[in-house]
Amino acid sequence: MTGLFEAARTCLDAATVDDKPALTLAMAAAFARGEFTVLDGAPPPEPIRMPGRPPRPRLVHPRDLPRRGFGTDEGRAAFIHAVAHIEFNAMDLAWDAVYRFRGMPAAFYADWVSVANDEARHFNLLRGRLRELRHDYGDFDAHNGLWEMAEKTAHDGLARMALVPRVLEARGLDVTPGMIVKLRGLGDDATADILEVILREEIAHVAAGSRWYRWHCERAGVEPRVRFRELLREYASGVLHKPFNTEARLEAGFDLEELESLLAAAE
Ligand SMILES: [Fe+2]
Ligand SMILES: [Fe+2]
Repeated sequence: MTGLFEAARTCLDAATVDDKPALTLAMAAAFARGEFTVLDGAPPPEPIRMPGRPPRPRLVHPRDLPRRGFGTDEGRAAFIHAVAHIEFNAMDLAWDAVYRFRGMPAAFYADWVSVANDEARHFNLLRGRLRELRHDYGDFDAHNGLWEMAEKTAHDGLARMALVPRVLEARGLDVTPGMIVKLRGLGDDATADILEVILREEIAHVAAGSRWYRWHCERAGVEPRVRFRELLREYASGVLHKPFNTEARLEAGFDLEELESLLAAAE
């Protein structure tokens, strides 16, 4: 029996387009079979650093990413690539939650291993679609914003749960329905179908973030809504955008009053 933290580290370190999702799926399956233990005496986590990545995509500043419409095949491929990049990062974000935050209840580790497993499937689905369009992951530039948020919140599980699932992943809930409509309008049902799967499963990821965010708040004796707005100001000013997907966000553990106050702060 090996330790779960070691397994998470192995997935974080995996550096190829094939290895990271394949190892993620294999480790999640082994975890589901009860093959890993959470070892109390495990050495503490290493300081956060860049996870294993393929040499491409090239990471650039978000402002250097060209804006392409959906109208051309190239534009659509660039869009699918951008979502695939989010999913590739999301595997690392989930494994880093497992790896970094020690002494959490068993359900915390089960939640984030299961998220990692979903993200690997999402990545593979999108990569498959990219290849149908005669492209592959790495063909377009990308940015490093998701991992930067992981770095900024590596010292604090409460901030991580607030900022990664409940801000960055929650943004996906807001924008995906519009993308699905656009893709269907263009007759690209294959991509739209993949985004439907992703949207449904991402609600559960944000919901897990909400659960563990509140768990941390309770333990720290802080009021979750007040603290969330403080964290937004501290880490993510200008990140919150309207309109929200109210229905999905309610399912994902936000409440109406909270959404109203967040809307007032959103751009
Ligand atoms: Fe995902
Ligand atoms: Fe996710």
